[in-house]
Amino acid sequence: MSSASLEGKRVVLVVTGGIAAYKACEVVRRLRDHRVIVRVAMTAAATRFVTPLTFAALSGQSVMTSLFAGERPEDIPHVRWAEWAELVCVAPATADFIAKMAHGVADDFPSTLYLANAAPTLVAPAMEDDMYRHAAVQRNLATLEQDDVATVGPATGSLASGRTGPGRMSEPDEIVAAALRTLRHGVINKDLDGQRVLITAGPTYEALDPVRGFTNRSSGRMGFELAREAVLRGGRVTLVAGPSRLAAPAGVELRSVQSAADMQREVLSAANESDVAILCAAVCDFTPLDPVDEKLKKGDRSCLDVAMVRTTDILATLGKSDPRPFLVGFAAESSDVRERTAEKMAGKNCDMMVGNRVQGAEVGMGGFDNEVVILDRQGGEERIERLPKPEVATRIWGAIGRYRERMNS
Ligand SMILES: Cc1cc2nc3c(=O)[nH]c(=O)nc-3n(C[C@H](O)[C@H](O)[C@H](O)COP(=O)(O)O)c2cc1C
Repeated sequence: MSSASLEGKRVVLVVTGGIAAYKACEVVRRLRDHRVIVRVAMTAAATRFVTPLTFAALSGQSVMTSLFAGERPEDIPHVRWAEWAELVCVAPATADFIAKMAHGVADDFPSTLYLANAAPTLVAPAMEDDMYRHAAVQRNLATLEQDDVATVGPATGSLASGRTGPGRMSEPDEIVAAALRTLRHGVINKDLDGQRVLITAGPTYEALDPVRGFTNRSSGRMGFELAREAVLRGGRVTLVAGPSRLAAPAGVELRSVQSAADMQREVLSAANESDVAILCAAVCDFTPLDPVDEKLKKGDRSCLDVAMVRTTDILATLGKSDPRPFLVGFAAESSDVRERTAEKMAGKNCDMMVGNRVQGAEVGMGGFDNEVVILDRQGGEERIERLPKPEVATRIWGAIGRYRERMNS
């Protein structure tokens, strides 16, 4: 698998308190060379060896050092990070941290994250040779092996004390190679395993004549990220997309469309076979009444009147169909976002509705970030503050997964 296909994979690197913590900086850099997104979580002891600032600068992400950093109940950062991770890599792993992992101790951010996560875990032990040989450490490593935790190293070589022996952390190259291998073969959060997922994305384009038309500034990014995340979670994804410059995520069946009418046709044909549908596209509400086949001449007219008619509301149409997939809609609102989103959810018979405010060019439609509220039919509400759209997609699928699980239990 090339670097390109690892692009956007998500690794939490746990750094614990050993001398080899400085080598973890190189691990971050090399993972980023492969376009992997790396978040670093540090134990308190690790921060004595390398500052969080160094890892923040190298990873381009916030570093977590405290279990109690979030102030609101929905923050629960160790759970969020655990959901986000496709791989947890502990490098260096101290004797102490290995013991915590083996015994299920959860008394700081990294150890609690480890227990909360379902992704594959890789540890790179690093300690003095006598510590490494100690029966307790060997017992703990054997327990980790039984728990399906993979280990890389340690190597035998010169140690921080000046002695030579086993316990030296594997070189960053070796750790990165093991991490990439694990990313290629093992993604565990497969809550959509085998399910058929339908997603719409992007704007529609309503032609007025062969060269002109009406559209909006949707980029398609939110829907494409939802599709990418659904594939990672094991879904079989059909993405119905209006005109977009974005490349389709790997593993997705892309159906490219132009107009609202085209999108409606594709959605209704795919919906019968879908378990979950997220209609995220910014479908034009109006289309020219009389599109013409020849380019309109400007002639000597000083203005142009165009009669427009309503397009079909695809979400409401799907909401009325029976049977229908688990249905999630999107609502872009300029004001009263929560109230209007709730109204739309009920009016269009959706199971969940994601509302976002139409604001500047950077957030929401056309932007790289989003800030949303997610509502469900049981009165549940989750707010996601401004975040990059890939992360918002992870959160939305997390919310959908939790709600569906509640409904089925
Ligand atoms: C200078 C120094 C170097 C250390 N190096 C290591 C090490 O390489 N491996 C290890 O297991 N512990 C090492 N320790 C001990 C750990 O820092 C200590 O056990 C600490 O409690 C580990 O905390 P953590 O597992 O939460 O990071 C070292 C301590 C000091 C003072």
